[in-house]
Amino acid sequence: MAVMDFLTAYDALPEDDVPRRVALLRKSMAADKAALFTELRAHRPVFSTPVGVFVTRHPDVLEVLSAPETFTVGVFGPVLEEVLGAPFVLARDGADLHWRERGYGQMLLAAEDAPRVRELTARVADAVLDEALAQAGDTFDLIQEYARRAAAQVAISYLGLDGVDEGALHSCTRRMQWAFAVNPDRDPAIHAAGVAAGRELHERVDEVISRRRAASEDGGDGSPDVLGRMLRMRLPAEYGFDDERINANLAGYLTGYQQNATQCTATALKELALRPEALAEAERAAGAGDPERFDAHVWEALRFHPFVPVTPRLCLRDHVLAAGTPRQTVIPAKSVVLACFASAMFDEEVLDAPGEFRPGRPPAHNLVLGYGAHDCLGKYAAQVIVPELVRRVLLRPGVRPLPGGERALDYAGTPFPQHYPVSSGRRAVPAV
Ligand code: HEM
Repeated sequence: MAVMDFLTAYDALPEDDVPRRVALLRKSMAADKAALFTELRAHRPVFSTPVGVFVTRHPDVLEVLSAPETFTVGVFGPVLEEVLGAPFVLARDGADLHWRERGYGQMLLAAEDAPRVRELTARVADAVLDEALAQAGDTFDLIQEYARRAAAQVAISYLGLDGVDEGALHSCTRRMQWAFAVNPDRDPAIHAAGVAAGRELHERVDEVISRRRAASEDGGDGSPDVLGRMLRMRLPAEYGFDDERINANLAGYLTGYQQNATQCTATALKELALRPEALAEAERAAGAGDPERFDAHVWEALRFHPFVPVTPRLCLRDHVLAAGTPRQTVIPAKSVVLACFASAMFDEEVLDAPGEFRPGRPPAHNLVLGYGAHDCLGKYAAQVIVPELVRRVLLRPGVRPLPGGERALDYAGTPFPQHYPVSSGRRAVPAV
């Protein structure tokens, strides 16, 4: 079935045949999300289904995410807190912890850290790439041998989790993210694995906090990393920022970061490699010593393959969406609303030629780091880490996705890409 036939096929199924309607929807999402969203934007921009109301137009996605009192994170918040074993900023809204923890996080994940974090990323990435290449044959696995390891090592240094095993960090956060963000049927085995991983990560972070507390007399050891800042921070007792809160925040930040950074490194390279002219231009910018010019190529690449294509919200009260437009729709209380970032970033009524690769588009057209009250709290770090992880690869002329194998991301039965073969530059690799 061509995906352009989706609505015809969907409407032909009886309204009460929920399993088949949901199966068709999921199949179309998996087969070609971009084509499905194009059809929905044109014909049913606010699309009510048994799994939720798909909101696909750019202004409507912004409207949903601008009203956290109406559209809350209640869809996944309770699951996230079960996985973390503690309250967390991405699981709450407004006066219920979010406002306060957001301010705390903004001080810790400081914007001023960005240049230092970029240098750290460059150093770590080069060392991991050297190791990968020293052991590589003609090709190597960009995700297992490079992206996952470099992302974890940057997190360990930046957040201050020295002593935490990089493999355990990656594996715990993968199981945690899978359980809270991509387990729509609440598969009990996936949930249990996420909760167990959350406990394991908590224990590992606890050990670091105790060691750091014990090592310095005043409990704050002067380190420039995020944990050092947390240990030195003095807040009124009524805020309750004890070591358990420190632990929950660090584990939560790791969960918000590790799979994202790993996947984005691979998918940005994939999207560039699929467009030889864009790749050549990115390579020139990578070598020009002007990281900001280069970074725009990575964010534009990620517009085509964002880590979070859709974010769910719980509608608490009846809401008239897109009021005064032809698509005006009442969203009833208790609906799950699916804010489709991946669709909004291709809204032809807002973006100029959205299908064209154009680095440097207006910032509001790029929703890769989210939007509104819950937009990425780690964005100043993410804005330098992700492009720099990609740039260090492009600075190695022989290390590229394989010709003909640009799309060969292997998910290995998980929601996140696990393998991506790239050439090592040893010798010309035949096209696959
Ligand atoms: C590396 C690439 C990253 C990507 C692609 C990314 C993406 C996102 C997105 C799309 C959201 C919004 C989620 C939603 O609205 O449902 C988000 C929120 C968040 N991110 Fe990131 N993120 C990244 C890195 C980081 C880093 C480095 C940290 C912390 C060190 C972090 C911590 C968070 C937190 C705590 C939130 C929730 C904020 C809130 O609820 O107010 N992320 N991120």
